[in-house]
This record gives sequence, structure tokens and C-alpha cells, in this order.
Amino acid sequence: MDPNALFALSYGLYMISARDGARHSGMINNTLTQQTASPLQVSVTLQKTGFTHELIRANGRFAASVLSESAVFPLFQHFGFQSGRDAEKFDGSFPWAEDAQGLPYLTQMACARFSCLVTRTADLGTHTWFLAEVLDAQRLLPESPLTYADYHAHIKPRPQQALPAAAGKSRWRCKICGHEVEIEGDVLPPDYVCPLCKHGALDFERVV
Ligand SMILES: Cc1cc2nc3c(=O)[nH]c(=O)nc-3n(C[C@H](O)[C@H](O)[C@H](O)COP(=O)(O)O)c2cc1C
Repeated sequence: MDPNALFALSYGLYMISARDGARHSGMINNTLTQQTASPLQVSVTLQKTGFTHELIRANGRFAASVLSESAVFPLFQHFGFQSGRDAEKFDGSFPWAEDAQGLPYLTQMACARFSCLVTRTADLGTHTWFLAEVLDAQRLLPESPLTYADYHAHIKPRPQQALPAAAGKSRWRCKICGHEVEIEGDVLPPDYVCPLCKHGALDFERVV
């Protein structure tokens, strides 16, 4: 199987946020998809270990901010490379507002937002799939939505000059966030997970 085939799928990028009482968080996600128009339903898939996942599970609601072409790499670092368990993500670093459900959404670098009520879930092993009814939607900045391909081509920093791997080791780079790791031997374990963006071994390429 050629994992590069996945890069031929067209995705958007989103900041999915949730709240449960005083606790809130948001994370970068590329799986939001419209499922039906009437009623308006969307789905999204989140890794079970994330804090936003925990909050959606607790409160049954989430908001989606559709990231626009003006999004910058620090936004991805802020929402995608750290957990809301360890950092206050809505600290004013990136302007935000609250929808009628009290869910935070971005008011900059986002071209639309959706407020969603979860109606069904499915256990996908590492992830949970959430089906949701859209309670409210709003067009925000008059900008085009960012695609995952644009993120890879223009936003993610270019890799630095690769260092040679030590004898008996190999060096691997995450294609999602650029994190590099050196491991014993030639094969990255299939269950390896990027410590920064939490993507799996299929999203790593060997640095030669
Ligand atoms: C470009 C990019 C795309 C991502 N896509 C997803 C995704 O589709 N699903 C997911 O669970 N995590 C995805 N992540 C990882 C989460 O955003 C990341 O684990 C985040 O820190 C979770 O934060 P939380 O613990 O506060 O929920 C992505 C990260 C990046 C940088």
C-alpha cells in the first residue's frame, strides 16, 4: 500500500473546539465533512486521547472553525501540537468569540464556523467518529478555505538540512508537522505516534 495516495485526497483544515463547564479546548483536525443537507449533518473524527475528544464526549457538542488561507503556522502549533490538558489554548493568542452554546470559535484566520450537536458516535479503535446536527452556521472572513495540500506546500516549515543518522540508526520525519526522530534499525515501528501532532507511522518518511 502506498501511503502517499492519502495525500491525493482533498481535505480542509479545521479548529474543532468543545467546552464542558469551565473546561474548554480546541484542536486542529482535517476530517470535518458534510454528510446531508436536510437536516444539515456533518461528521468529524478525533483521536480518543485528546482533551477536546474528552470534552465532546462529556458535553455532546462541538464547534468547527474552518481555517482560511491566512492561517499561519503558529496557529497549528498552538492548537495542534499541545493539549488543552497542559495549556490554556483560548488565552488570547488567537482572537476568538463564543457561539450561542458557549463554544469558542476563531474570529481570525477562519472563513466560517459551525455549531454542532452530536447525534451518533462510532468507535473506530484509536479514534471516535462523531455525527452531528448543525445548530448554527456563519460565514466569517471573506477568504478561501485552506486545504491540507496548501498547508503542506506553503505553511509547514521546510525541513532543515538533514543530519546523517548515527551508525545502526535511521532518521524519520513527520510529514504533518516536520518533527524528526532517530531510531535503532531501519524500520519505524508501525505503532509509533508523533509526540507533537499525534499522527501515526504512516505519516512519516525516512530522511536520507
Ligand atoms: C495539520 C494537523 C492535522 C491534524 N488532524 C487531526 C485529526 O484529523 N484528528 C485528530 O484527532 N487529531 C489531529 N491532529 C492532532 C491534534 O490537533 C492534536 O493532537 C491536538 O494537540 C489535540 O489537542 P487537545 O488534547 O487539546 O484536544 C492534527 C494536527 C495537525 C497539526
